[in-house]
Amino acid sequence: MSLPGATVQALPTGAVPGPVAADRAHLFNAGTVAAYRRVLADGIDRVADRVAAADRPFTGVTPQDLAPRIAGIDLDRPLGDTGAALDELQDVYLRDAVYFHHPRYLAHLNCPVVIPALLGEAVLSAVNSSLDTWDQSAGGTLIERRLIDWTVDRVGLGPAADGVFTSGGTQSNLQAMLLAREEAVGRAATSGGTRPSRPESLSRLRILTSAAGHFSVQKAAKLLGLDADAVVTVGTDAERRMRADELAREIDRCRREGLRVMAVVATAGTTDFGTIDPLPQIADICAAAGVWLHVDAAYGCGLLVSPTRRHLLDGIERADSVTVDYHKSFFQPVSSSALLVRDRRVLRHATWHADYLNPARAVEQRIPNQVDKSIQTTRRFDALKLWLTLRIMGPDAVGALFDEVIDRAAAAWQLLTEDPRFEVVTRSQLSTVVFRYLPTGPGRALVDEANLYAREALAASGAALVAGTTVDGAHHLKFTLLNPETSVDDIAHVLDLIAEHAGWYVRTRTAGELSCPIR
Ligand SMILES: Cc1ncc(COP(=O)(O)O)c(C=O)c1O
Repeated sequence: MSLPGATVQALPTGAVPGPVAADRAHLFNAGTVAAYRRVLADGIDRVADRVAAADRPFTGVTPQDLAPRIAGIDLDRPLGDTGAALDELQDVYLRDAVYFHHPRYLAHLNCPVVIPALLGEAVLSAVNSSLDTWDQSAGGTLIERRLIDWTVDRVGLGPAADGVFTSGGTQSNLQAMLLAREEAVGRAATSGGTRPSRPESLSRLRILTSAAGHFSVQKAAKLLGLDADAVVTVGTDAERRMRADELAREIDRCRREGLRVMAVVATAGTTDFGTIDPLPQIADICAAAGVWLHVDAAYGCGLLVSPTRRHLLDGIERADSVTVDYHKSFFQPVSSSALLVRDRRVLRHATWHADYLNPARAVEQRIPNQVDKSIQTTRRFDALKLWLTLRIMGPDAVGALFDEVIDRAAAAWQLLTEDPRFEVVTRSQLSTVVFRYLPTGPGRALVDEANLYAREALAASGAALVAGTTVDGAHHLKFTLLNPETSVDDIAHVLDLIAEHAGWYVRTRTAGELSCPIR
């Protein structure tokens, strides 16, 4: 790498910051570092106090309670004072926020975050590097590149691999599908015979993923201008893992019907069931068919650092592209995700040279930039959070945290299988548990309503938050365990609360005392 300008001498400035004009007092610069220290410390104190005091993950506040308070604030009349603004923030946000750090937050794929990453967040927003070009980030670009290389090594994608940080799994999956689409269209155009028009090629493209795959795949297909039926759902087995035999059959069917499978999306950690598609078999099928394999490891990527369970991702190293969400199983604050590719050349499909930013000559001069690999332009230095996490804690410590929640999910599953009040669906390979309260006798007809009610009543009380989903058309409840502080006792307590709420609903409805059934 040659960096032009390396020999250019910086001019000595010798400028001493003068007194700060009132209208500039809030600009962060050499003259305001004292205010920066004070204001940030005030903010940190408020958050720390709130977190220390939170005896439940949620207050149960409703949109009706909060909306008028927020709407009533006149944004054209500033408070002018940090303390007053923080008091107001307490009222409209901090008091009633949903606290993922609380051990009875058991709902979505949100993790409690590690302190080194919070330090990273504070540093990156203050320095405010933008990771599009070297001249807006310098070391930031190289740090992100090191972390991509580190992750690529963990995955085992090989020496030609590369990638880029993204805003989340949705964006990573979208970009993967963009690259796969362009490769497929390119191949269609060069595969001999009559050259199909681009619209014709696009209309024939299909993406195969399992019924338990993430909806961002469907969304990506829509954004990429594919047909409404471009995403073909492959059936799952009893463990909700993609059936490899069905995948092979679907690829065959597409071929016979003149359709082109542009990508197979395997999921390494399904959102609901925490199961991992059979990656080695799927990789074999994709290799034999010459089809792009994308592995959505948004959730399962934490296994890359697991001291005991890395083998669950075996086969991922054969993917053409991989999504990893550090903000799910690496205990990173939102946002922190990456798209990885086996062959760095495919990233060219996301490249556009702009004279003002990344002219083609910058490539010739070998000035490193990340904008050529990204579908974003201005981009946060999210990589810094992972960098400090690895430099302070190390990967094994992160993996041990993820291992712990997987163990806890196994214990929860065991509890549920032994509890006659509940029915539990498949056993997760990661940290989700899908189950439902099962009323007995005439109340059985109310099973869907009772579970919906229990979830809402629990959230309204704020005592715990659990998620909901449907399994084969029936309402279920879901734990997503990502907090090692969640104990088996916490889980047992939450199950008792769910049974109380659901039982109350069934009793009241069967006694005819509740005329308005839950949605
Ligand atoms: C398997 C999977 N893929 C992709 C996503 C989307 O990730 P994000 O919410 O970071 O956009 C999720 C989110 O839960 C997910 O579970």
